[in-house]
Amino acid sequence: MEGFPPAPVPSNGASLDDLRTAAAGCQACDLWERATQTVFGEGKAGAWLMLVGEQPGDKEDLSGAPFVGPAGEMLDQALAEAGIDRRLVYVTNVVKHFKWKPRGKRRIHQKPNAAEQRACRPWLDAELARVRPRAVVCLGATAAQSLISRDFRVTQQRGEVLPSPLGPPIAATVHPSSILRAPDAEARRTAYAGFVTDLRRIADTVGR
Ligand code: URA
Repeated sequence: MEGFPPAPVPSNGASLDDLRTAAAGCQACDLWERATQTVFGEGKAGAWLMLVGEQPGDKEDLSGAPFVGPAGEMLDQALAEAGIDRRLVYVTNVVKHFKWKPRGKRRIHQKPNAAEQRACRPWLDAELARVRPRAVVCLGATAAQSLISRDFRVTQQRGEVLPSPLGPPIAATVHPSSILRAPDAEARRTAYAGFVTDLRRIADTVGR
């Protein structure tokens, strides 16, 4: 990003811990200024699946780990139901700092823009190179449009495992927070069932 130092990604051979340590000092865009900390990915090198969300939320920003807030609880429940052990997957985000604006006492999520996503991309590429998952799953449109294609439509292509220049095949499904935003209990049940179906289909296609 113009006017900012590039993401300080260590050279090849760095471990995930080395990457995490280096990412803690990243100032490749201005999001670090208002965030509590960098929220790096979580999981082991060699994890079979990589899940990629948009950016940390309020709880993640405070705790330093991805998907630990309400969306994370929804994700955990759906993964378990789809027969996917979260401990065996790598969970991360396109952007590693929480972007927010104040509303009263609350910090309201704001979607990271294209320049912020680009500035953060070296971290995701380094995570991919280190983890070498068998497949990548984008959670929501921001991740899908960042990693698959700008005009990807989650509603049309969700759950399909596609070849990718990133290396491992890639798929997309809804973001778990979209389930939390469903207008009523019935819509929420339907959205949740669709999410579990996508995750199960992807895992069945790739092989757990
Ligand atoms: N939403 C995301 O996209 N990622 C998180 O880590 C938490 C909420």
